[in-house]
This record gives sequence, C-alpha cells and structure tokens, in this order.
Amino acid sequence: MDRLLINGGHRLEGELAVHSAKNCVLALLAACVLATRPVTLFNCPKITDIINMTKIIEALGGKIFWEKDDLTVDCSVLTGNEIPSSYAKEIRSSLFLMGPIIGRLKHAKAVFPGGCDIGIRPIDLHLKGLRALNIDIEETGGFLYCNGENARGNDIHLDFPSVGATENIMMAAVLAKGKTTITNAAKEPEIAALQKFLNKMGAKIAGAGSSTIVIEGVKKLDGCEFEPIPDRIVAGTLMTAVGIAGGEIEIENVVPEHIAAITSKLVKSSCKVRAFCDRIVISSNLRTKAVDIETSPYPAFPTDMQAQIMAFDAISEGTGIIIENIFETRFKHVPDLRRMGADITVHGDVAVVRGVRKLYGAEVHASDLRGGSALVLAGLKAEGVTSISGVGLIDRGYESFEKTLSSLGAKIQRISVND
Ligand code: EPZ
Repeated sequence: MDRLLINGGHRLEGELAVHSAKNCVLALLAACVLATRPVTLFNCPKITDIINMTKIIEALGGKIFWEKDDLTVDCSVLTGNEIPSSYAKEIRSSLFLMGPIIGRLKHAKAVFPGGCDIGIRPIDLHLKGLRALNIDIEETGGFLYCNGENARGNDIHLDFPSVGATENIMMAAVLAKGKTTITNAAKEPEIAALQKFLNKMGAKIAGAGSSTIVIEGVKKLDGCEFEPIPDRIVAGTLMTAVGIAGGEIEIENVVPEHIAAITSKLVKSSCKVRAFCDRIVISSNLRTKAVDIETSPYPAFPTDMQAQIMAFDAISEGTGIIIENIFETRFKHVPDLRRMGADITVHGDVAVVRGVRKLYGAEVHASDLRGGSALVLAGLKAEGVTSISGVGLIDRGYESFEKTLSSLGAKIQRISVND
C-alpha cells in the first residue's frame, strides 16, 4: 500500500491548472449511456472514481478511449443493463447510472452503492424520484431490479436537494414521455453542467442552477464534445493549502463564482485573493485567523471543503466553529489531526477548533477522500515528517496529489510499503 511522506514547513509558490471536476465528469459519464453516438469529455483527471466509472460503462458494452486527458465514450451499442457489483460497491456515483440505463434500455439491475464512509448515505430520494416516473423498482436480495418500459414524466419534489438524486431523475426523465418538473432540486454547478451537456446532445431541459428543473422528454440523444466545469473542490483544497503553508500560487481553469463561499472565508482569515475570469491568485504571508463554517447545499459552504478548513483552523489564530449539516460522520479526520497536535473537540455535528502555534508530524491514516486531503494540508505545515496511509482514498479525487504539491515547492513523496 502507498504512503505519503511530507516534510513540513515549506511555502508554496508557482502556478498550475485544475482539471475538469470529478463530480461533474462522473455525472456526464453516466449521461453518456443515453448517447447513441460517441461523446468526448475534455481535460479529465485520471482518478480512481473516474476509472471505475469507465469500467462500469465498458461492462455495459460501451467503448472507452483516452487521448492524453481527453476521454471518449462510445455507447452507440450497449450489450447489458447490469451495473457490476464489484464496481458499484466502490463508488456512490454508480447509483446515478440507473437513470440513464433505464432511460436508454428500459431495464436496469444494480446493487446498493458504496462510496466514501462519511454517513449512512441512503438512496430513498433516488428511488422515490424514479418511481414517480412510473419506473417499477423491486428490491430483492440486495439488488434493485428496475423496469422503465412505461416511464413517463411527472412532478417530483425532493425532500432534500440531493445532488445525485437530482442528476439521476434528470437522466431518467430525458427520454421518458411527457414533461417532468423537479422542485427543490440541487443547485450545484455540476447540475447546470449536466443540463448543458444533455441539451447539447438533443435534450430539452431548463432551470438547472435554480430549485426548479423542467425536462421535456425527447426520442433519442446524439453524441457531442464537451468541456466539463473545473474542479471547484480541488481549487479550494489548493487555496487552503496556501492558507496553511503560506506563499503565493496562481490557479488556472477556475470559475471564481463556484468557489465564492471558500474564497470569502479565506479572505476573512487574512489570505489575499485576486480573481480573474478563469483563474485566481492567492497568497498568505501572515498568521491566518480561524474561521467559522457551516456546511449547506450550494451556493453555501460546501461539505467537501469542511475537512480542509478544519486543518486550516487547527493552525490558525483563535477558535473556529465547524458545523457539518450534510453528512452524519464526516469528522473522521479529527483523531488524526489531534495526533498532529490539533486542539479539536467534537459535540455531535459541531467541532470546536482552537488554533495552536505548532502541529507535529505523525503517522496518520486517511479515512475518506476529503479527510485524507486535510491530513496532507496539515502535514505541509507540521514540524517534522508526517506519514499518511490510506492514500488510495485520496487518489479517488486528486490526481497525483503529491506531484501537484511538489510542483509548488512542498516536500512530499509517495512511497510503496509492503503491508
Ligand atoms: C454528491 O454526493 C457528491 N458526489 C459528494 O462529493 C458531495 O459531498 C455531495 O454531493 C454533497 O454536495 C458526487 O457528486 C459523485 P447528496 P451525493 O445526495 O449525490 C442525503 C466528494 O468528496 N440523501 O447531495 O451522494 C445524504 O445522506 C463527494 O467528492 C438522502 O437522505 O450527495 C446526505 O446527507 C463526497 N437520501 C445529503 O442527502 C438520498 O436518496 C446530501 O447527499 C440521497 C441523499
């Protein structure tokens, strides 16, 4: 198993470009199942979640071609409608393949999905939405058997603006007869990108980015070429890394609006941020002040940045209050940050982080993707060497994270350890 070794205390300087967003590419890959001709997605990171998603598409009969970072998916001929359990158990995003498989092939079979261990992660909103489209879903022996022969549009209200459920319903409705209206839909930028992508293939969808999305069913979808949106969480992670380690970096391929909630917190803490149309420059040369955050659906502060800001507060001046409203167990990085000298107390979904003057290198373990990235950020500042195991979880969302940070001056390396 790989480990990351970080020798802390080095500022970050330089510039880099961010890839297309993991959580956008995963949704677009699912939507490729609806396309009767090839699709090319530009500037995709080769991270494990995306690789696993392409394996599922190949298992359905689709063809996958990489040309550098451009990914072409040809689902013109599909030979199966079952999502392989081995991959489905790996990634949560296999769940929103159900909608497009049912839309294209009328039948789908899947197991309950896996994913990062950050909460219960029920799928009731997905199932309620698909059933509202007159899709018959039977749950037998841990499998979901779906029949969409008589799928038709309907009005669907989401009890919670679930990102995945919004995407799943959109993709199930796009080829269903009639009109579907989703109210209390998720408003994340990835939803608007999915609408733009589906419409480019011939769909008729409006309203994404707001709470109400309207889908008019069409007969079939064509192929297209598409540039997914940049990864706002990778950008936010790198910005927070500068806030922790100090220095100045320029990040290209950023949509400033998508990271506004993160930027405002870092500026409040005394980081300097200059935003241009598709890039930002961030610098931090003073001891930062701890910030309070409360995670909520977009455009509020994103849950996927909670762990990284906790590491930031741990080494800042003052006390930060962190409230996690989205997932039930997304504080698994706390014990490892404590092992590095952080002063954090947790009361349910509230963490009180009292900034300390020093963190210390330690042996720590990544429990999930974003928690693992937070340990890397803490290691950038910690005195001595931090050794991080569970690197495979970090690889789910960050392509060669150690190379990215090394290019900016961090002293970080990946070593293979025979456990
Ligand atoms: C997406 O997950 C992202 N993943 C997550 O990113 C992100 O944290 C999350 O949205 C919230 O922004 C992808 O896009 C692949 P949700 P998703 O459905 O769709 C509850 C990362 O680190 N819920 O919006 O699974 C759920 O338990 C990952 O990149 C139900 O109760 O998130 C959670 O409490 C982690 N029933 C809340 O809604 C359902 O049927 C938000 O979940 C579905 C969800």
